Amino acid sequence: MKALVVGASRGIGLALVAEYLDRGWHVVATTRGRGDEGLQALEQERLRVVVADVNDAEAPAAIADAVGVEPLDLLVHSAGVLGDAETPAGRLTPQDFASVLLTNAFAPLRVIEALADRVAAGGTVAAVSSILGSVGGNGTGGYDVYRASKAALNTLLRCHAVRNPGRCIVAMHPGWVRTAMSGDGASLTPRDSARGIADALAARAGEPGCVFLDWRGRAVDW
Ligand SMILES: NC(=O)c1ccc[n+]([C@@H]2O[C@H](COP(=O)([O-])OP(=O)(O)OC[C@H]3O[C@@H](n4cnc5c(N)ncnc54)[C@H](OP(=O)(O)O)[C@@H]3O)[C@@H](O)[C@H]2O)c1
Repeated sequence: MKALVVGASRGIGLALVAEYLDRGWHVVATTRGRGDEGLQALEQERLRVVVADVNDAEAPAAIADAVGVEPLDLLVHSAGVLGDAETPAGRLTPQDFASVLLTNAFAPLRVIEALADRVAAGGTVAAVSSILGSVGGNGTGGYDVYRASKAALNTLLRCHAVRNPGRCIVAMHPGWVRTAMSGDGASLTPRDSARGIADALAARAGEPGCVFLDWRGRAVDW
């Protein structure tokens, strides 16, 4: 089995790489190269690392090159940024708003579209979304631009699913995870989240259509 994990230098992406290596998979992992000691510490025999900033024009082609011709059983895009969590969206600069949307919504779909033909017919395409991207579940507000970016990601995944009706496509909420993004107070370790995500994706593998799941495999309200 072979997986591509995009955004694997640290956090949930790194934990997903470790989890799939432990499950005996071959893994292609991407990093921006700004510090990837975690990846280097993993067992390297079944791991291939490629340097790519997902916002670079050439990133999808570089990642496709590293993936090679052997089809993927799983493509999971984890790279993402929080942006300004405090400021209402309408008070952000256009540049600050756009950069979060580009990284969290446009970049994943650019990678997914570019690599769609590298995913095996029964394979899975997943992007790490967030429950904060749930429009129906937004009763508290806050995190405006982050919420907007994950709602946009979910919408673009559904557009992709309509164009590719036989595909298994998952928007994945990873839980509240102890990473640089959520801090030490979060409830899950990255590895617990990754284990849950891998189990949830395995349970869903081969099912056509686009679903929004959490790390326990439970449906999340769009
Ligand atoms: N932690 C949570 O509680 C939580 C909850 C819901 C959803 N999520 C989502 O889970 C995903 C992973 O987040 P995390 O918690 O693991 O955060 P993290 O520890 O801050 O890691 C973010 C990852 O994204 C990479 N990244 C950011 N911008 C990139 C770019 N332009 N090109 C390539 N890589 C880039 C980072 O690479 P560098 O090391 O180079 O910066 C890093 O590997 C994100 O999509 C996030 O929105 C997290």
